[in-house]
Amino acid sequence: MRKKIVAGNWKMNTTLQEGVALANDLKNALAGKKVNCDVVVCTPFISVAAVADAVKGSVIGVGAEDCSANDKGAFTGEVSASMVASTGAKYVILGHSERRQYHGENNALLIKKLQLALANGLTPIFCVGEMKEERESDTFKSVIEGQMAALYTLSADDFAKCVIAYEPVWAIGTGLTATSEQAQEVHAFIRASIAAKYNKQVAENTSILYGGSCKGSNAPELFAQPDIDGGLIGGAALKADTFMPIIEAFK
Ligand code: 13P
Repeated sequence: MRKKIVAGNWKMNTTLQEGVALANDLKNALAGKKVNCDVVVCTPFISVAAVADAVKGSVIGVGAEDCSANDKGAFTGEVSASMVASTGAKYVILGHSERRQYHGENNALLIKKLQLALANGLTPIFCVGEMKEERESDTFKSVIEGQMAALYTLSADDFAKCVIAYEPVWAIGTGLTATSEQAQEVHAFIRASIAAKYNKQVAENTSILYGGSCKGSNAPELFAQPDIDGGLIGGAALKADTFMPIIEAFK
């Protein structure tokens, strides 16, 4: 059975101290609770090691929000997949729409990042999702299929190590959530596409998360959809008080 996952993406928020405090708050909030999904926090690079240390022994997994498309060497300012893995982090978000939009990330680059993440034992949380105009012009399925093509360069074995996050760009940080029907439609479309590319078994085992203004109030309905396996959470992941109800949406 595929995993249920609630992952936080802190984006460019939290200083080192704030990040460690947030991780500790979450760890304390989860202590002694029965949790029915995997819980992950993806933090800015500067916090990954300290957060991984802070949550050691808890159920919380840690990830980075990106990694370099290069293995090592003269790439000033970049952080490699092996550096991320050396902190104890197990996950890395790749292809977030903010990276695609503001840093021109495309499939060719993302294929390199995917390969390095996997080679270093990290679980990629690979983001796909359409812009507002693409939703309105009804081209979103071909856009998503085009983004999935980066993942489809992987062998079935490597693909099986990846988590997918569907994040409609028009729903990110806007308060506009995709309705559960809209999200389910795309998740089912992605799963059918995976089945066509690999096989039904691979498709059934892939966790597909929803992201975009997901919060405690809408998580239960979203997560009740048959093809929605959890969430990738931005704003609501920045406080244990708002992140916990999303985790607890998996009863
Ligand atoms: P919000 O939850 O703030 O809309 O962000 C979603 C997101 O981009 C997570 O990666």
